[in-house]
Amino acid sequence: MKEQHLLKQALRAVVSGQQRAAQDVHRPAWHLAPPVGLMNDPNGFIQFQQRYHLCYQWNPLACAHGAKFWGQWSSADLVHWRHEPLALAPAEEYESHGCYSGSAVDDNGVLTLLYTGNVKFSEGRTAWQCVARMNEHGEFAKQGPVLPLPEGYTGHVRDPKVWRHQGQWWMVLGAQDLNLQGKVLLLHSADLQNWTLKGEMAGSGLNGLGSFGYMWECPDLFHLDGQDILVVCPQGLAAQPYRYLNTFQSGWFSGELDYQTGRYHHGEFHELDHGFEFYAPQTTASNDGRRILIGWMGIPDQDEFFQPTLEYGWIHTMTCPRELSWRQGKLFQQPARELRQLRSDERTFSGAADSLPALDISSAELAIMVDGDFSASFGGTMQLTCDAMGLTLTRSNRRTGDIEQRYWLGEVTSLQILCDRSSVEIFINEGEAVMSARYFPGAAPQLRLAGEGGLMLHHWRLKGCVIE
Ligand code: FRU
Repeated sequence: MKEQHLLKQALRAVVSGQQRAAQDVHRPAWHLAPPVGLMNDPNGFIQFQQRYHLCYQWNPLACAHGAKFWGQWSSADLVHWRHEPLALAPAEEYESHGCYSGSAVDDNGVLTLLYTGNVKFSEGRTAWQCVARMNEHGEFAKQGPVLPLPEGYTGHVRDPKVWRHQGQWWMVLGAQDLNLQGKVLLLHSADLQNWTLKGEMAGSGLNGLGSFGYMWECPDLFHLDGQDILVVCPQGLAAQPYRYLNTFQSGWFSGELDYQTGRYHHGEFHELDHGFEFYAPQTTASNDGRRILIGWMGIPDQDEFFQPTLEYGWIHTMTCPRELSWRQGKLFQQPARELRQLRSDERTFSGAADSLPALDISSAELAIMVDGDFSASFGGTMQLTCDAMGLTLTRSNRRTGDIEQRYWLGEVTSLQILCDRSSVEIFINEGEAVMSARYFPGAAPQLRLAGEGGLMLHHWRLKGCVIE
């Protein structure tokens, strides 16, 4: 009964709100965004029988966090997407305050979701790790909880990411221990139903890390070119000069996981993105052997509700899909090659930044070879400066009006910049680092370049990509 009620409410919200949302000049032309309401983490990302499936944390009923649903899209090529049946609605007691984040696996030909049932009480909360399996109608049938709160942790245990390794299922879970330290738990199972806790594989106070946050969210573990990479979102890191400047962080460790002992020897934590908006990424393996990442271009509690799209009844977008590679001891990210099919109207310019014309960046891609200092104004609303120190991205805070800045330190030789109405994603030196940000210029924003540095620049318009 509750499920029917929730689905009717969601349908009403979409039917009555989608037209207004579509009129927003800030609505992306080719990034994924919710039809209405609030979207956050990517969930259940998988290439299953040729099609990619991507679900998302969704509150269709309001531009607010709350009892999350899972919306769902699918795509043959990571570029053209279609809406799929809503995957999960928070109808059951074990998920009364939200079907929280999780992942998807192919269980012998059955698309299977593992997610967190989030339950809040007047004081405190609990969490169940739950399973849902796709049925013959393409809908997810809930199997209920398979794992209660493990002993020794607060109610903050969530975001199962599951993969297969040597004939077993393995899971990483974000957790907070009773001393309020963030951890990643490692579990294994023969059947996705019965789970054994192997131990804490990483976290605050572990593996030589020192104090490193009160909660770790959205872990993801995968093998890439000889490395076991752990992507995770620690909460509670103090800001330092030039880093950890967002409310919460999202980053990676590389190392080696010993599946026998559950021990993970890893190096330092590195931020995945140096811009303003990036959080809760999830990766999947493509059938052709690539590791693809999609993140949420938003951060919880970081002035989210000062974004102007709220007036149009929707908020937040995903990042573009990114291909990961391991090079020179670093995790590189580049826009998925499939996105090149959106390019049209190529134009090439070269000369001092000062001498180049203003360029349309409403929906555009720029590839720039950089030789010297320059600056770029995005629609008069956000500035990028490039000098000997590296890159600085500057905008004024929408809540306070104060100037805020993000940095990448290092030598810049090339930039690839993807612009989509209210977002920019700046890929530095062929993916050595990325800066992602939302910004809210007027309609038809332009890029204005200045400075004496020499640039070789390609500009493409990017075709819009209607989500069916
Ligand atoms: C990360 C997160 C997850 C949680 C979800 C709830 O943004 O807080 O830890 O599962 O969002 O929407």
